[in-house]
Amino acid sequence: MEVIRKMDEVYSDLLKYQTALEEQNNKLEESQQFIFGVLAAMSDILVVCDQTGTIEDVNQSLIELTGKTSAEWRGHPLVELFADDISRKQAELKFNGLQGQAIHDCEMQIRMANGSSMPVSVNCTARFNKKGKSVGMVITGRPVGELRRAYHALQEAHEALKRTQQQLVHSEKMASLGRLVAGVAHELNNPISFVLGNVHVLERYAGRLKEYLDAVHAGRSGIELAELREKLKIDRILGDIRPLIEGTIEGAERTRDIVDGLKRFSAIDREEECEFNLVEIIQRAVHWVTNITSESFQVEMDLPHFIPVLGSAAQIQQVIMNLVQNAVDATAEVKSPRLRIQAKIEKDKAVVEFRDNGSGILPENFPKIFDPFFTTKPVGKGTGLGLAISYGIVERHNGALFAANDAHDGGTIFVLNLPLYQSAKN
Ligand SMILES: Nc1ncnc2c1ncn2[C@@H]1O[C@H](COP(=O)(O)OP(=O)(O)OP(=O)(O)O)[C@@H](O)[C@H]1O
Ligand SMILES: [Mg+2]
Repeated sequence: MEVIRKMDEVYSDLLKYQTALEEQNNKLEESQQFIFGVLAAMSDILVVCDQTGTIEDVNQSLIELTGKTSAEWRGHPLVELFADDISRKQAELKFNGLQGQAIHDCEMQIRMANGSSMPVSVNCTARFNKKGKSVGMVITGRPVGELRRAYHALQEAHEALKRTQQQLVHSEKMASLGRLVAGVAHELNNPISFVLGNVHVLERYAGRLKEYLDAVHAGRSGIELAELREKLKIDRILGDIRPLIEGTIEGAERTRDIVDGLKRFSAIDREEECEFNLVEIIQRAVHWVTNITSESFQVEMDLPHFIPVLGSAAQIQQVIMNLVQNAVDATAEVKSPRLRIQAKIEKDKAVVEFRDNGSGILPENFPKIFDPFFTTKPVGKGTGLGLAISYGIVERHNGALFAANDAHDGGTIFVLNLPLYQSAKN
């Protein structure tokens, strides 16, 4: 009985061991399957070698690349992987001397299934056993061709993008040049055509006057001369001459103003730089503009005594005069037209605000107000160059000029920033 009981115990122990063994076996199979799956899915090539450089195993990528099975590779020297003598020599040198240190991204040629070679970026690290003893190495490699192709594609896309950008910049430049030329042509066309028209009329009049004077000098009789005077409309000519000449002068002056504006716009007439008090310039600019405007236009100024700025005082005065003149024009229809000018020093810059209670700027016009020849004023009233020139001047002084609609008062706010003159501040 005792023996039978013992046998039963041993048998049940055996059964337990068998189940445990089966469980462990399953786990082992699972993890082997996992490792195999990972190795098979790798797109990089993988080679495992022993210490002498003999291949122990390879992955699916290398099998596909070289056309040899893992059984065919096993036991062969690693150098056989490489296609040319240089790569083989390199491999011998590198992998033989490998003692714990790794090799990174070394480009080598691998022999492919069809006999040709493929550049591969090779990495190699030493492999250790449980006790930390080096037992061989693991080599991985990524075909460089793919990287190169991706790199070339990227470079080409970048080049194409650069070309498109250059074209865009170029066509934008051409378009704005076109707008500028069209604007100049349009602006100049008017005064030049009436100057030309007037000169033609004067030429005709000169002919008739000469005819009349010839008759006077020829000593014709009073009656004859009176008839001739009537026929040649000499009296009308004499009345016309002055307005014709005045008109011609006005046209010529307008042409000169436009050219002046253009010259300033392109900064041909650049002046010497000097230190000046911005406050004085504001006061002078306001004085000049309000001198010739209606008395109802009120300017309220809140200014410190002294704001030192470096640059061209005349040009900055021109900027401020244009801002004040714009405010005068914008408030023409307003009952009590008003402009508030406030200047202050903020850190290292001067900030001047111009707030009017005029018409404000339509949202669709905001992006255009600094464009040359953009004007909403009637023909002959504004050239549309004022803000464009001002913008250029302020930029050359390393400052900024921008506009906003005044949400509280209605009207427009222009803000002018200019850097303070440093040495005067110390
Ligand atoms: N304070 C303002 N309020 C409302 N609109 C303004 C104001 N300042 C400028 N603008 C708008 O911006 C446009 C361009 O102004 P800019 O000073 O460049 O030219 P302009 O005044 O029309 O002509 P110019 O200054 O050559 O006589 C003006 O026609 C106007 O529509
Ligand atoms: Mg203006």
